[in-house]
Amino acid sequence: MSSNGNASGEVFYPPEHIIRQANQPDYDAIHQAMLDDLAGTWGAIARDEFEWFKPWDKTLDDSEAPFYKWFVGGKVNIVHNALDRHTQTWRRNKVALLWEGEKYEQRSYTYHQLEREVCRFASVLRAMGVNKGDRVTIYMGRIPEIVIAMLACAKIGAVHSVVYGGFSVEALHGRIEDSQSKVAITADGAWLRGNIVPLKEIMDEALQRAPTVQTVIVVKRTGQDIHMEPGRDLWYHDLMNLPIAETCIPTEAVDAEDPLFLLYTSGTTGKPKAILHTHGGYMVGVATTLKWVFDLKEEDTWWCAADPGWITGHSYIVYGPLLLGATSVMYEGAPNHPFPDRWWDVVERHGVTVLYTAPTAIRGLMRFGDAWPNRHDLSSLRLLGSVGEPINPEAWKWYYRVIGKEQCPIMDTWWQTETGGFMITPLPSTPLKPGSATRPFPGVVVDVLDEDGSPVGPNEEGYLVIKTPWPAMLRTVYGDPDRYVEQYWSRFPGMYMTGDSARRDEDGYIWVIGRVDDVIKVSGYRLGTAEIESALVSHPSVAEAAVIGVPDEVRGSVIQAYCILVAGMEPTQRLVEILRDHVAHEVGPIAKPASIEFVDALPKTRSGKIMRRVLKARALGQDEGDLSTLEQ
Ligand code: WTA
Repeated sequence: MSSNGNASGEVFYPPEHIIRQANQPDYDAIHQAMLDDLAGTWGAIARDEFEWFKPWDKTLDDSEAPFYKWFVGGKVNIVHNALDRHTQTWRRNKVALLWEGEKYEQRSYTYHQLEREVCRFASVLRAMGVNKGDRVTIYMGRIPEIVIAMLACAKIGAVHSVVYGGFSVEALHGRIEDSQSKVAITADGAWLRGNIVPLKEIMDEALQRAPTVQTVIVVKRTGQDIHMEPGRDLWYHDLMNLPIAETCIPTEAVDAEDPLFLLYTSGTTGKPKAILHTHGGYMVGVATTLKWVFDLKEEDTWWCAADPGWITGHSYIVYGPLLLGATSVMYEGAPNHPFPDRWWDVVERHGVTVLYTAPTAIRGLMRFGDAWPNRHDLSSLRLLGSVGEPINPEAWKWYYRVIGKEQCPIMDTWWQTETGGFMITPLPSTPLKPGSATRPFPGVVVDVLDEDGSPVGPNEEGYLVIKTPWPAMLRTVYGDPDRYVEQYWSRFPGMYMTGDSARRDEDGYIWVIGRVDDVIKVSGYRLGTAEIESALVSHPSVAEAAVIGVPDEVRGSVIQAYCILVAGMEPTQRLVEILRDHVAHEVGPIAKPASIEFVDALPKTRSGKIMRRVLKARALGQDEGDLSTLEQ
């Protein structure tokens, strides 16, 4: 499903009361100030809004571009700004994290309580030999301990690498191996629609081939019997009861450019790569984007309904809202469990003021009809948000009308794991066109280019690029700086290649169309063709495989696979099911192909590269385009 231009030309203007109370700067003024003096303007924000242990010497160092550095020489820690400093103010006793379990359990942590838990767990990690710069893999469901674990790592300068709890054995193994983590933190299981996802079992299988991990810390969540490997596995609650957990260690003063986390994401080719973000720039970028775009105030109850295992959760469940001293809501379960109004019930009971979610969830809930949300008082909502893929105008309007009662502007935020925070997005006062992420965030310059790198005309489709550096930008691909340069900065020299195609209309509004590379967005989750194909060929019956994304009404895209079987294998329906389950086991249930077709050949270039473009055109009954490079 793609946004298809603004055919109807509809514009939605924000209500007067939204504009009046928004604490955002004037867009034109701040955008111009940033264009005139990018470093100076960001420098002033960084100085005024955050506490630094030592001021920086240079705000933006572009001497080794594209390896940009921000706040060079500054000493800081994101945890000091997200937690410690709030405990010195009235916010000490304010709820930082409000958690609701799938079974309606509730836990809340004030800033003081969260800071204490983080401190205790940081002491435990330290005692286990985790030091500054060490990587720690975190593999958990949506429970408060995932937040505590992430912040505890950051507090001591360790680098967290969170792997989404919906990924499975091979995906987890590859990420542990690449990051060379020595400690892994997981849970016995996670609840999903009343069933248990056996996280620890998956971790055990992944660790059979990942010898770097010496210690596994296990949070008890689901309570079933699990295997605990003597000498390697320890219970979180046992560790937190040790005297060592009572010693409060200070938050480490790290360099602004020291790594904060790795997050693996699928790229154009090959294995998922580790995007690296740092303490200083990420902190400044994430907090500022959240403050301006969602007008987030400390009295807000903010609910980002993503998973902490993806960038959306990192930036806007964990770090962003805490940096701003707001209350961040985290809900463990599925949107429609046990009933299709579970989310609306959460909004009503907790008085959520800003809700941020993905088009796939909106479309999914829309299918159940208006009666479910209409049963609830949603009047606490002030703003709504969308992220992850283009939102089709129909879903936009339903969200606007039925959830926001035509009083809540929708912030359609375009950004990526790599960008750390919002890049193309409205501010609360921006007139909205359903399906467009509107304009670049202040200071961001984007363009839409043709094959040769020339800007295309209004409403023409082209490659979306970014022409200015920004504080929360990725710093590199961990362990592979060449890939960073190659993948992001080589196609159009000096410009950041987003991997998306877009159109810009006559008002300068950007309409993101979708990926131009081998990334597929399934329900807003980012998957790479390579990872799924390699899972398919790892099955003994498959000789070659290719996967593509095809449009789906609810999920945006679903995966369609083409397999060449090894000689002698029967192409049966049973084998289709076996292969689908195999992919779910290797990569994760979200990667499971919707359909598998057995073929005798795959379209390839003469150099042997699979032409997925041709497969896609065939699947959609479209023109196959230029076939001159096709091997005949
Ligand atoms: C897509 C998610 C249209 C886009 C934060 C991008 C969007 C990819 C939008 C990054 C949006 C994200 N409109 N497309 N508002 N937001 N995308 O790294 O294709 O999981 O390149 O980051 O999601 O996915 P990622």
